[in-house]
Amino acid sequence: MTHQGTKTIQTERLTLRQFVREDADAMFQNWASDPRVTRHLTWMPHASVDVTRGILDGWCALYANPAYYHWGIVYNGQLVGGISVVRQNEHDEAAELGYCIGHDFWGLGITAEAAQAVIRYLFFEVGAHRISIRHATDNPASGRVAAKCGMRFEGVLRGAGKTADGIFVDTAVHAILREDLA
Ligand SMILES: CC(C)(COP(=O)(O)OP(=O)(O)OC[C@H]1O[C@@H](n2cnc3c(N)ncnc32)[C@H](O)[C@@H]1OP(=O)(O)O)[C@@H](O)C(=O)NCCC(=O)NCCS
Repeated sequence: MTHQGTKTIQTERLTLRQFVREDADAMFQNWASDPRVTRHLTWMPHASVDVTRGILDGWCALYANPAYYHWGIVYNGQLVGGISVVRQNEHDEAAELGYCIGHDFWGLGITAEAAQAVIRYLFFEVGAHRISIRHATDNPASGRVAAKCGMRFEGVLRGAGKTADGIFVDTAVHAILREDLA
């Protein structure tokens, strides 16, 4: 892969861009403090905006690394969520995506639109060969996002994920190869 870093991507309705420290209030309000969003994730809702700001500072420092991919999703002028490469494997030229969106913005096709754009970026700008997502089997909306991006369901890994509460959950795997889009 030839890493390009988190460059701004424009889609029909969205701007995908690097997070900045000043995003703390919007991120805290729109998703990071909401247990409905974190229910299937590996982290707990943030207790205060200071927690969010501290996390943003950490992310912003990582943008100097061209192999770090993490976009804030802007819709109608508002920061509504994020999408990132949560795992990558240089040897296999593979990347795994993770995403979360504020509850008020669910069901509008925002994540599918963002993920489709990120998939194209990682295939055709970065040169990835395989892009996957994993989700808890009791979080079917995430699997639906994968399907809308052209990913194929590949199977279920038993007890392969652990929630922030320490519960092991089965995870479904979906993936797409660059040749699937060629
Ligand atoms: C999963 C999540 C990212 C989806 O975001 P979104 O912007 O609402 O996604 P989209 O609108 O692009 O697509 C969601 C699809 O799931 C469907 N869906 C929603 N709830 C569903 C359910 N319980 N069962 C099956 N499908 C469901 C929607 O109808 C939609 O499909 P459609 O467009 O064919 O109608 C969002 O719900 C979220 O942030 N959840 C919390 C964090 C999270 O779980 N992240 C993923 C971790 S793997």
